[in-house]
Amino acid sequence: MCGIVGYIGKRNIFEVLISGLKRLEYRGYDSAGIAILSDDVFILKRAGKVSKLENELQNFAPIVNSTSFSLSVGIAHTRWATHGEPSDINAHPLTDCTGKFAVVHNGIIENYQILKKKLESLGHIFKSQTDTEVISHLIEEFYKNTKDFITSVQLALNHIEGTYGLGIVCAHEPEKIIVARKGSPIIIGLGDGEYIAASDPSAIVALTRNVIYLEHGEIGIISPDGVEVRKIHSDEKLDLDSRIHELALSLDEIEKGGFPHFMLKEIFEQPESLLNSMRGRINEKGEVKLGGIADFMDKILNSRRFIITACGTSWHAGLVGKYMLEQYAEIPVDVEYASEFRYRNPVIFPDDVVWLISQSGETADTLAALRLAKAKGATVLGIVNVVGSTIARESHAGVYIHAGPEIGVASTKAFTSQLVVLSLITLLLGREKGKISPELASEIARELISIPEKVKKILELNDHIKALAEKYKDHHNFLYLGRGFNYPVALEGALKLKEISYIHAEGYPAAEMKHGPIALIDENMPVVFIAVKDGVYEKVLSNMEEVKARKGKIISIVTELDDKVAKLSDHTIQIPQTFDMLMPILSVIPLQLLAYHIAVMRGCDVDQPRNLAKSVTVE
Ligand code: F6R
Repeated sequence: MCGIVGYIGKRNIFEVLISGLKRLEYRGYDSAGIAILSDDVFILKRAGKVSKLENELQNFAPIVNSTSFSLSVGIAHTRWATHGEPSDINAHPLTDCTGKFAVVHNGIIENYQILKKKLESLGHIFKSQTDTEVISHLIEEFYKNTKDFITSVQLALNHIEGTYGLGIVCAHEPEKIIVARKGSPIIIGLGDGEYIAASDPSAIVALTRNVIYLEHGEIGIISPDGVEVRKIHSDEKLDLDSRIHELALSLDEIEKGGFPHFMLKEIFEQPESLLNSMRGRINEKGEVKLGGIADFMDKILNSRRFIITACGTSWHAGLVGKYMLEQYAEIPVDVEYASEFRYRNPVIFPDDVVWLISQSGETADTLAALRLAKAKGATVLGIVNVVGSTIARESHAGVYIHAGPEIGVASTKAFTSQLVVLSLITLLLGREKGKISPELASEIARELISIPEKVKKILELNDHIKALAEKYKDHHNFLYLGRGFNYPVALEGALKLKEISYIHAEGYPAAEMKHGPIALIDENMPVVFIAVKDGVYEKVLSNMEEVKARKGKIISIVTELDDKVAKLSDHTIQIPQTFDMLMPILSVIPLQLLAYHIAVMRGCDVDQPRNLAKSVTVE
């Protein structure tokens, strides 16, 4: 949710922290701040984006532009507000009464009100409305007796309930940064005589590829002499030799590469990202290899049912997965919003296989669903993009989607890669269970392998879709309708439009329209139909007639050369034909582009839509 970065080394601390924050800004962008150790703790924090903070730093030009730094120590934060409105005061870092301790935090302190009352009764004065501020005051309180930074932090963390990724500095011991993790991720990069800690690898990779992932319940002490990791409540130093990983991320992957927005770049990357999701995993005979779950095949094949749980776009992918797995592998599948699943005491059998789908691998609700299912004895398998993320690490096994970094807040290429992985799983299990014949397997495989080329053809329609966006950009409501495999695509198309353009949009199963939403239709209502040639094509045509009869404006995603749909539609977007269960990978792409262009034309901040953040690490 929020982004944290901390640095110790000899570089210009301002440049390191600001460029780190810019890379983390997709996690939250309502305010930003830095704390730098000089003679004391220098703090600058502002409501608004990182660029605003960067501009204000120019008021301190002599220090900011200095070229000699004997030792730079600092922490920084970009925020997605939970407690307290976005403002200068509530921006992180948060300090104590003396201004000697500064804290940046990602997560939520659940017992902050009780702690705040106690601290106020001891004379502490609070400046912000945040939950985080209790941490700095608690540390200050313990420091009065211990006179030791690490012990004070450990004692403070003993009293804190909730989740946190933390970065803390202290003017009394200015050559140290303490980081801690309970829930929210912290990664420590090990450079040559320099160290950088951050909430995710994108802020680290420009400096080093060698990293340690802090585990849940650990504290890291970073100093010019190196990194030490302990359990939060222990003094014993943990052995780190086997815990150093090499990041596979490149700088190019996390830059815009000439596109005006990450979202557009990521939409256009799909031919490549889809190829990466299937590379080395499938051949033309329809033989599928998924090394990540190979050891769990017995459990998977003997399970009575699957549960797929996820949030948002990943949940939509899960719904397509249900349609795939039930139709072609004949496995019963329940699809659950992780946020509901985790709180409703679901019945889970030990032979259930629970699949967690998550781009970030850090979504708090999905992670909680994983832990619940695991505690109830189920096998938990991840379908995750970010390598080394918490869901990936806490799952028994899983399949990475290999879509590459997705930075635009609206998920695009991760969705289509999730669909590729779900179709590979369907093919693998359908074959193993004897539900898919070798001939059908080969047909599906050949279609899947040809998908990236078909996506390239759809991307050539960008100008046509942009022209449609121009026509419809001023409408206030949209309906998206689809059936079968394309019903989740209707949900996804509507989500893309609302989250980045702030236009109200609803996705519906086309046949459900007559049970209520049809009342909304008049000549001002654009209705986007996914009306491709599949098993429910004729049925969707009837639903289009119903909309046409009520003068709705119809934009259809159709299969190439389909005159029937064209006659009923005001506009069509023609996409290539493919196997029915793979169609969502193609049909969603025009909807991504339509949402993108409408949002740009309305002047919306496409990569950082209001109120949103890329990984939702709070519940
Ligand atoms: C929408 C979007 C969100 C995410 C959801 C789950 O464009 O990005 O709906 O899909 O927050 O995130 P992950 O997949 O990271 O668990």
